[in-house]
Amino acid sequence: MESSKFPDSFAWGASTAAYQIEGGWDADGKGPNIWDTFTHQGGDRVYKNQTGDVACGSYTLWEEDLKCIKQLGLTHYRFSLSWSRLLPDGTTGFINQKGVDYYNKLIDGLLEMNVIPMVTLCHFDHPQAIEDQGGWLSEKTVEIFEQYARFCYATFGDRVKLWITINEPYFASKLSYEVGNFPPGKKEVGVGAYQAGHNMIKAHAKAWHVYNNCFKDKQKGRVSIALDSDWAEPLDADSLADQEATMRYMIFRLHWFANPIFIDGDYPAIMKSVISQKSKEEGLKTSRLPEFTAEEKAMIKGTADFFCLNYYTTRKVKPLDSTSSQPLGNSDVGAEGVTDPDWPLAGPEWLLVVPWGLRKLLAHVKDSFGDPEIFITENGFAQTDPPLLHDVQRWGYFQETLAEILKAITVDGVKLKGYFVWSLIDNFEWTLGYNVRFGLFHVDFEQPNLPRTPYFSAVEYAKVVKGN
Ligand code: BGC
Repeated sequence: MESSKFPDSFAWGASTAAYQIEGGWDADGKGPNIWDTFTHQGGDRVYKNQTGDVACGSYTLWEEDLKCIKQLGLTHYRFSLSWSRLLPDGTTGFINQKGVDYYNKLIDGLLEMNVIPMVTLCHFDHPQAIEDQGGWLSEKTVEIFEQYARFCYATFGDRVKLWITINEPYFASKLSYEVGNFPPGKKEVGVGAYQAGHNMIKAHAKAWHVYNNCFKDKQKGRVSIALDSDWAEPLDADSLADQEATMRYMIFRLHWFANPIFIDGDYPAIMKSVISQKSKEEGLKTSRLPEFTAEEKAMIKGTADFFCLNYYTTRKVKPLDSTSSQPLGNSDVGAEGVTDPDWPLAGPEWLLVVPWGLRKLLAHVKDSFGDPEIFITENGFAQTDPPLLHDVQRWGYFQETLAEILKAITVDGVKLKGYFVWSLIDNFEWTLGYNVRFGLFHVDFEQPNLPRTPYFSAVEYAKVVKGN
């Protein structure tokens, strides 16, 4: 890696999410969330029918997590609140004080170590009671989320200054309401993800306004949303069809959510026209993509104080081959991503290592969304079980990635403010269970005290953080 340094105030972090680490699924009055329900139903939808019932035990072992953070010397820690631990039925009708106490201890513990908390309100795990009323498919959830956000700002905002409303609305809507491999397992192809995404955008925007109107002056914090995206390039750089397919790929992934929030309060024109045309061909009277009213557009536009980007991988893109078997819901985008055999694989089959893709994606965000301040709120590489503690190859991927993001700052002029590794500790990797390990710290899930042990990557990352 080049010897240049990152800017002085650069944020060095690691990220986790409540359901993936906490355990204590029914401890002290916590209500069930959609992942509790889903994993308890079994049915081989999760690797070996594993659950997050215990996970890394962070609900009781949070001080062990603080030790890991300290060992890394992080300046920031991103974690999420379990909505149903705080509000068991999702509403402020009943507040679970033990849940509040838990996050108070965690936040205070971080601040005592001079670590800045970055807090996500909802990371894939909304309360089952909310889902029972329609979840993200229901408009009612918008207002309930707004109330939840207000409660969190009022309760923790004296100490938390960096907020993320929703993690990855793309996956939260697609996998839960269209592909159906995430809870609640709905397969409303061509409709569910758009409807859920529509409500998430409105919920996010309302939560931003509540902060802006009622808390910002006093608390002086900032609010955003975490958007994930692949980087995409045409399979054949000279093919017009591949270039157009690549543009659609990025639009239906990143711009779907980023355009309304960062540009003009509305969906990208291409997305609207493609879906409306297809809906017509299908004999529908209205487009499957819901519309925002003029008032809603004005409400949504400009509702992020910085850009949170989660990046993992890159794809080469070509027009969708209608004869090949495709993941559900891919037909509107009319594009498919393929991988380059030269790209190494890190852990799960989707994670091809392409560090330069992140640099290009950062430049794309800079150019497309008004040169915002950006935090990379997730990036990482996994090993499948059993992992090597001496993960030299994985650290190599991190090094290449850090070299690319440094170029993004120094050469491309991207206002990159921080980098957060996914993840602080090995954890419950959703449908892949504990088989896929993203942690900087190894967790021994076989032992009752769930010991954390640094990987080689953790030791090396600590050196980078220290030397900036
Ligand atoms: C999610 C994390 C997940 C990670 C690795 C992101 O999409 O926000 O919860 O563990 O990817 O798959």
